[in-house]
Amino acid sequence: MSDHERVEPARQLRGAIRVPGDKSASHRALMISALAPGQSSITGLSLGEDVASTSVIIEQLGATRHVDDGLVFITGPDEGLRASSSSLDCGNSGTTMRLLSGVVSGIHGTHHLIGDASLSRRPMDRVAAPLELMGARVVGNGDNVTPPLSIESPTQLRGIEYRVPVVSAQVKSAILFAALSAQGDTIVTEDIRTRGTTEDMMRDAGVELVVRDVGRGRHVTLSPSRPRRHDWHVPGDPSQAAFFAVLGAIHPDATLEVLNLDAAPERVGYVGVLQRMGAAVQLIDHGSFHALQTRSSDLVATEIHASEIPSVDEVPVLAVAASAATGVSAFRSMSELRLKESDRFTGSMVLAQGLGCRVWAEGDDFYIEGLASAANFSDFSFAASLDHRMAMAAAVAGCAGSGCTIDGASTVSTSYPHFFRDLALLR
Ligand code: S3P
Repeated sequence: MSDHERVEPARQLRGAIRVPGDKSASHRALMISALAPGQSSITGLSLGEDVASTSVIIEQLGATRHVDDGLVFITGPDEGLRASSSSLDCGNSGTTMRLLSGVVSGIHGTHHLIGDASLSRRPMDRVAAPLELMGARVVGNGDNVTPPLSIESPTQLRGIEYRVPVVSAQVKSAILFAALSAQGDTIVTEDIRTRGTTEDMMRDAGVELVVRDVGRGRHVTLSPSRPRRHDWHVPGDPSQAAFFAVLGAIHPDATLEVLNLDAAPERVGYVGVLQRMGAAVQLIDHGSFHALQTRSSDLVATEIHASEIPSVDEVPVLAVAASAATGVSAFRSMSELRLKESDRFTGSMVLAQGLGCRVWAEGDDFYIEGLASAANFSDFSFAASLDHRMAMAAAVAGCAGSGCTIDGASTVSTSYPHFFRDLALLR
């Protein structure tokens, strides 16, 4: 794939596709399998570079991995994982670095975690604080504890009671991974429910864990235990389906379907937002998995609060939907957007502005005055800044509107190596 990608407008979009395996579930399947003694298997593992980083690291820590006929087998050593003398390279992946910080805190010794230029700017104080309370020592740069990280892990962590001060599944998960080998129970509280992937998958692996929903939040109590081997089936990634949900809705002649998805409520908040905007988007329940159907619609502006879309991964592409809507859309309490693979707060506004929209910000809110139709989008150039979701959001806008040129487009391979091929298949 060229790093400079030209996306031409599509005359018509039709078809059904499968997006890559859920990135969140893929990381966790690898980590839980590495911690469990014996051989686990994984189908549907994401083939993106983020998950490949996790894969390499669990091998450095002593797990073994082999692939046979599309099935990935991970064997966790009976004696448990051990510290590696070489650096653990998390690449572009915040999930790898944050969850692994929890995993390695439970492995006695010293660990060095590094990342690319984007990851090296991201705050790790949010995981360092609870892990230090559990007895690990986490050293990074400055007050925000940016990578590279050095983690000194004791022979025995202690369980803690902790209220996560930011809305973050990664922080909750880092604590739960460390809690597996701590002395005493750990209780984690979140005020807004984030994806429960770690809790669900640890429970599948026999970990003793009690989850209680309270209001809009959740308490998780974990009693230390070693996960058991498991055969994992990773569903399609609903955050990747969001790009096609928006594409189908804003393109003037589209009927699209995305098959085989996880549709946990914390993951598909964007579907409700799009429906509120008037999009013909729906999730069809096929028992264990869902399909997402979408077709051309006239959109109206809406107000979107970050708590509707915990983790805010789908905001950049919703900014593209807002750009094609009639009226002014408000994106509220979006401070976390600034701390992703790039500053997506600024990136989403720059993208909408490139399409021809009037945009402005007030504190942690931003506004987009839509152009009433993707047909009114300008042809534009966009710099992806090592951010896969920004690159894909720009491609959706270019494909539905008047075309675009994306600089740094190869960053899509961190989560969706075949994104541009799939986009071409639908034409
Ligand atoms: C993820 C959590 C989210 C999300 C990321 C994946 C996870 O981050 O943005 O893409 O797998 O736990 P936060 O924990 O910062 O919300």
